[in-house]
Amino acid sequence: MPGFVDCHIHAPQVAQIGLGLDMPLLDWLNTYTFPLEAKYADQKFAQKTYAKVVENTIKAGTTLASYFGTNHKESTLILAKEALRQGQRALIGKVCSNQNSPEFYVETTDKSIASTEEFVKDIQKLETDLVKPTITPRFALSCTKELMAKLGEIAHKNDLHIQSHISENLSEIDFVKSLYNTSYAEAYDNAGLLTPKTVMAHAVHLDDEEITLFGKRGTSVAHCPASNNMLSSGLCDVLRLIKNGIKVGLGTDVSGGNSMSIQDAILRALDVSHHLEFVKKQEIKGSGRLEVQDQAYQPLNYKQAIFLATLGGAEALALSNITGNFAIGKYFDALIVDTSNYPLHNYNASNDNKSPDLILLEMIQKFIYVGDDRNILRVFVAGNQIKN
Ligand code: GUN
Ligand code: FE
Repeated sequence: MPGFVDCHIHAPQVAQIGLGLDMPLLDWLNTYTFPLEAKYADQKFAQKTYAKVVENTIKAGTTLASYFGTNHKESTLILAKEALRQGQRALIGKVCSNQNSPEFYVETTDKSIASTEEFVKDIQKLETDLVKPTITPRFALSCTKELMAKLGEIAHKNDLHIQSHISENLSEIDFVKSLYNTSYAEAYDNAGLLTPKTVMAHAVHLDDEEITLFGKRGTSVAHCPASNNMLSSGLCDVLRLIKNGIKVGLGTDVSGGNSMSIQDAILRALDVSHHLEFVKKQEIKGSGRLEVQDQAYQPLNYKQAIFLATLGGAEALALSNITGNFAIGKYFDALIVDTSNYPLHNYNASNDNKSPDLILLEMIQKFIYVGDDRNILRVFVAGNQIKN
């Protein structure tokens, strides 16, 4: 099958995966995440961690990842070189943040801009199609208007990919609105940061006008169900986004998310969609407790979720011209999945007079619903085997 696309993962946070998931977003950032990311000033630490991150995401079947690094240009370049060395397709961003961050992990505006420009040049010097730079304001809260506008300019001048976070958590949204005096989406749009090459993580609480703006700009969403659960951010209605013409992919959002696997993200996205169905169909008892009622709500199905994990993700990252499925002319970015052993335990479906199409569909269901990375025997990117 086509390889998995992870539209949103923080490589440095893999060092704390599974830890500190007992707080909402802003406390979680200040207590656990900023102190960890500050450690990537140490390039030896970065080298050791990033080699493992790329190895483990490949093991989980990720052939294309959109990575956040840290504020540090040098360490983030190490991440880019690791993806290239191990043969993974990757978009990589040096993170930018010049306000509302602890003094041990904040940049000046000038430093943030200069090191972003240097980072873009450094990646271009690698002379590869596999790894590309991404303009990465951490989120509107941690960047001034001035920095955001400058990052928008750099992206436009060089036709670069852009990634950030939007509308993840209600306290965060209130804070951003008070800083910018606009909607969260307009804060990015006014800086020229909503483009067809932009992917925004979360988008849990976007209002109708913001969704319309995303549609107009061709901007995509990385749906990160594990993280939205773990940090109690909310239930993202991805079908609402898709119905409004927005491209959606899946993200693990490690380490807000607790799993590096996009196959796991498929299941978590299905869970969230079923939970939304329950909420929307619940009877209003007494005094109209629920505002959004929709008795006709149909949850995401597994085929749609697999699409989000593969071609949908490639579209969201504006790379579906080269990857995401097996259309002629694209690179062979693929997984060889073996369902003949675990979890089938040698159950041989072909004995039941089923059509080849049904057998294939059942193999895929078994892998997605019950299997794991033990079923992924080989991983290919651009025709090169990168895991065996
Ligand atoms: N918003 C700003 N930074 C982060 C981060 O590292 N993780 C998540 N989930 N949201 C963020
Ligand atoms: Fe994130």
